[in-house]
Amino acid sequence: MRQFNSLPFRLTVLTAAIGLSSAAFAQQERTIDVSLPLGPDSQQGIGVLKFGEELERLSEGRLTIEPHYDNALGAEREVIEGMGLGIIDAGIASTGPMGGFVDEFLLFDLPYIFEDHGHAYAFLDSEYGDQLAQLAEDQMNVKFLAWMENGFRHNTNSVRALEQPSDLEGINHRTQESRVQVDTWEALGANATPMAWTEVYTALQQGVMDSQENPLATIYDVNFYEVQDYLNITQHVYSPAPLMMSLDLFNSFSEDDQALILEAAQIALPVQREASQELEQRYKGELADLGMTVTEPDLAPFREAVRPVIAKWGPTVGEDLVDAAINFEH
Ligand code: MLT
Repeated sequence: MRQFNSLPFRLTVLTAAIGLSSAAFAQQERTIDVSLPLGPDSQQGIGVLKFGEELERLSEGRLTIEPHYDNALGAEREVIEGMGLGIIDAGIASTGPMGGFVDEFLLFDLPYIFEDHGHAYAFLDSEYGDQLAQLAEDQMNVKFLAWMENGFRHNTNSVRALEQPSDLEGINHRTQESRVQVDTWEALGANATPMAWTEVYTALQQGVMDSQENPLATIYDVNFYEVQDYLNITQHVYSPAPLMMSLDLFNSFSEDDQALILEAAQIALPVQREASQELEQRYKGELADLGMTVTEPDLAPFREAVRPVIAKWGPTVGEDLVDAAINFEH
């Protein structure tokens, strides 16, 4: 008996156990549930499905995803909270509700900060994107896998074409759950009400809301052309849609698998961004064909009307961050 308690014996058993458990861990199999606000053919669906395909390939079939479309797991804010609490595995979500958790994320609700896709990508792919992702990790308990996007947002409504901000007077406009977005649309002249994404189609259909704003690919994906007559190319905000994972779940993977997950997301990122831009181009024509009146207003008066919103929220977001975003070289 004594020999089994000897130090060399115990060390041998310990080493074998560690070796066994790390080998077993490296072979972990797992299906990751992923929440999406939109459907499989949307800019979000294309990115998430590419991520799943790459993850499965890189892990030789051990790691797979199960997408849950149209917010079937809950509205965006609930999904972000759920990931933070470790009860939802992963998801792609607009940054719109994130300013409620981390002030710096209100940056993405400030109007007319990013001029074009190149400007937004350069900023997000810089150390600023990394810092924001770290804030999300620290304060929301979620791991950012890739800065995917919803795209530039435009107004739709059922009342009239927007040639100037005063055309919004008397219009009931839905915003995302963001104080900055409420201020923006009030500054433009609308009556602004925050509302979760899952309620928007019905609110527009029933006339509770007259107006909303989203990228063209989203407007098409959820058939807003059925309940909105006017599409106004206001391009007022660039909307990221980061692909995220519960930090607890991410940390439960071995280091090798964490690297695979990040690699799969980074391979999917340019595919997603390119598809998003391609859909944006395609749907401008298609939404007109489907009966929407498309207006491209002069944006100067819109920019002017929302200047006070940037001045008001700059200190909360951080003046340095706002300046860095506006002036980021691209
Ligand atoms: C919204 O308007 O709430 C979002 O843009 C929905 C989404 O993330 O697709």
